[in-house]
Amino acid sequence: MKIGVPKEIKNNEFRVAITPNGVKEIVSHGHKVFIEENAGLNSSFNDEDYISAGADILENNLSIYNESELILKVKEPIEEEYSLIKENQIVFTYFHFASHKPLLDAMIKSNSVCIAYETVEDNNGSLPLLVPMSEVAGRMATQEGAKYLEKPMGGRGILLGGVSGVEPANVLIIGGGISGTEAARMAVGLQANVTILDTSQNRLNELNDLFEGKVTCKLSNKEIIEKEAINSDLIIGAVLIAGAKAPKLISKKLLKSLKNGCVMVDIAIDQGGCFETSSPTTHQNPIFIIDNVVHYCVANMPGAVPYTSTYALTNKTLPYLIEIANKGWKKASKENKEIKTGVNVINGKVVNENVSKAFGVEYHNINSLI
Ligand SMILES: NC(=O)c1ccc[n+]([C@@H]2O[C@H](COP(=O)([O-])OP(=O)(O)OC[C@H]3O[C@@H](n4cnc5c(N)ncnc54)[C@H](O)[C@@H]3O)[C@@H](O)[C@H]2O)c1
Repeated sequence: MKIGVPKEIKNNEFRVAITPNGVKEIVSHGHKVFIEENAGLNSSFNDEDYISAGADILENNLSIYNESELILKVKEPIEEEYSLIKENQIVFTYFHFASHKPLLDAMIKSNSVCIAYETVEDNNGSLPLLVPMSEVAGRMATQEGAKYLEKPMGGRGILLGGVSGVEPANVLIIGGGISGTEAARMAVGLQANVTILDTSQNRLNELNDLFEGKVTCKLSNKEIIEKEAINSDLIIGAVLIAGAKAPKLISKKLLKSLKNGCVMVDIAIDQGGCFETSSPTTHQNPIFIIDNVVHYCVANMPGAVPYTSTYALTNKTLPYLIEIANKGWKKASKENKEIKTGVNVINGKVVNENVSKAFGVEYHNINSLI
């Protein structure tokens, strides 16, 4: 199969959809890979790295889209890419269709086959292509929190781990799933005093075992959140209720009771945010301050560490890519339920129930189309 990797052109997106090692692997299966000139530069891969791995470099995205049967990307196509996508072309990337009707309309019109990273679901019901970015965001949350707790950055001026004879900072993590756990791992490593709240008792039991008593785990409810929040220096919001907007767990009123210079990192901002006062920010202007509380609400946190994020993402996408390229999307979907759950649109027909419900678009059962 001919696979094309265009340069990401969405604002502030520095990742690329494949590493040179990934190219080597896919080429060893007899496939051809086209990389757009300089597509990997922001992730520290240059064109020579890709050429050595067996790829051909094409000079613009028009030739990538023209030459390829499968387009491999990171972010959803943006408006100026819509018209480049051809009938029957496979597009394998993050789409997040339910939040963007014009994108869905454009992909329906293109008659392409859209396989979305975010809906690939494994047998345990988890979403393996979302996990790596949650891991990155979780680890970054503590790092960014530590940075903004510094006085010149607007924070309280407290060092997360303290020093001998001086107490460490109190870190509150609301939500102990993938990102919350990674945030805790970093905070524990820096010797902060860490509390995790979650609504799932099972998850709290797992976290207790995982951290061997080095974090305090408590069942989350309004009272506990308020009690813990007012004693915290850093609060990290890492909740998710699948398919729903994030619940608002820290109210605007509560801000006045928080410590001066407290930092709140809202990882869940991409689902609307779990603090009432959160609104999305960018890596250019990551924070704002309300009532002396620093809010960090960057919606694409992994974009700031493209080297790590590119590896983390492509490690997970590569096996699916190889299977789709080896078998073609129809056979791959028939034989692998995970790939089947990733297929959202086939030649103008929406085959993902949630996407069809989100906009009242007609739903087609994928089994009749593969
Ligand atoms: N900002 C970014 O750049 C970025 C990057 C990756 C992921 N995210 C987002 O981060 C959020 C978390 O993702 P995840 O993969 O860690 O989710 P996850 O499903 O692994 O974990 C969420 C946890 O929140 C818990 N929870 C739900 N309601 C709660 C409540 N009221 N109080 C306490 N805990 C509660 C759940 O029990 C679960 O353990 C999602 O919105 C995801 O989209 C953001």
